[in-house]
Amino acid sequence: MPGYSDVRVLLRLVLLSCVMLFTPLAWPADTGGAKEQAQRQQDQPLNNAPMWREVRKGENPYQTTQVRGIETNVLVQTQGEIWRQIRNGPITVYGGWLLVIVTALIGLYYWRMGPLKLHKRPTGRLVERFSGWERVVHWLTAISFMVLALSGLVILFGKYILLPMFGYTLFSWLAILSKNLHNFVGPLFAVGTVLMFFTFVKDNFPKAHDWIWIRKGGGFLGAREHVPSGRFNAGEKSWFWIGVTLLGIVSVVTGLIMLFPNFAQGRSLMQFASVIHAVSAMLFIAMALGHIYVGTIGVEKAYETMRTGMADEIWAEEHHEYWYNDVKKGRPGAAGTASAARAGAMKEGWKL
Ligand code: HEM
Repeated sequence: MPGYSDVRVLLRLVLLSCVMLFTPLAWPADTGGAKEQAQRQQDQPLNNAPMWREVRKGENPYQTTQVRGIETNVLVQTQGEIWRQIRNGPITVYGGWLLVIVTALIGLYYWRMGPLKLHKRPTGRLVERFSGWERVVHWLTAISFMVLALSGLVILFGKYILLPMFGYTLFSWLAILSKNLHNFVGPLFAVGTVLMFFTFVKDNFPKAHDWIWIRKGGGFLGAREHVPSGRFNAGEKSWFWIGVTLLGIVSVVTGLIMLFPNFAQGRSLMQFASVIHAVSAMLFIAMALGHIYVGTIGVEKAYETMRTGMADEIWAEEHHEYWYNDVKKGRPGAAGTASAARAGAMKEGWKL
């Protein structure tokens, strides 16, 4: 009778032969990959292309990633290269030229035509044009926009323009500062954009007289004649709807998708968001250049209206005649409403 230890030896032998017999079933069949690769290393040393092709397709049985979720085991993401070429190609090139051309055109226009000046002398009697709340909302959004625009331009163009100038150390500090400023000021701009929309929307609906303004180029072209408009002219309304609202929503939504990557976004969605974000940002900055020009040196005394909230009655009459008439009549709903206007208008003791 075989003893206990013999049985044990026998069992071990059976077990061992089973393992040896069945291991090939458990282990990924070597579709010749490993053998092929070993052979390739002989014939074409370091040519791992077929293996990487497999990895790129996600078909390599040995590839694993620590990243779990929508991109489990995706080691090489092919779209990444397409994204890189679009970002470093057309977006950088055409976006860059767009900003250069718009800035050059504004410079040329200012050099040729100069600022839009008042035809009549200001009387010194003031009308309230923007309330304290409107100015807070405006500058919250405007300043956060400026920070985002400048830091975004460093992120996109810095390595081509600033790196050769500043060298790696200084540029890397600037790039890190820009990235962090961009990430933290982004949500602030989002809040500002929402507040700005609801604060200014009521005075930005198109009116029939906006066509006259458009047809006459807002008085910016040719003889610079006086063109009447409501509280905001057609140029400001286009900036409000196309810039602040449309491009504002697109750049904020795509920005938030990239800023909070913890909603199972895959790299493709992030890349798509990054492309749309960059394109909308370029268009937004190009439009903002026009607004900033008009809001600073382009129109005499315009800047003061958003800094102090007050406009001289002659300025109001020459640039926003229909609005000014409403204020004078004290029409309810006319920003700078009768009561406010009266209070504001009376600042200088002026009798209506
Ligand atoms: C340095 C940057 C900026 C300056 C100097 C500036 C200046 C001005 C000025 C002077 C006005 C009043 C114009 C008037 O009386 O009709 C104004 C209005 C306005 N600005 Fe700005 N601005 C700047 C940036 C921005 C930015 C970045 C945004 C939005 C993202 C913005 C949105 C608006 C809006 C919505 C109005 C009211 C006009 C309308 O609703 O159509 N501004 N700005």
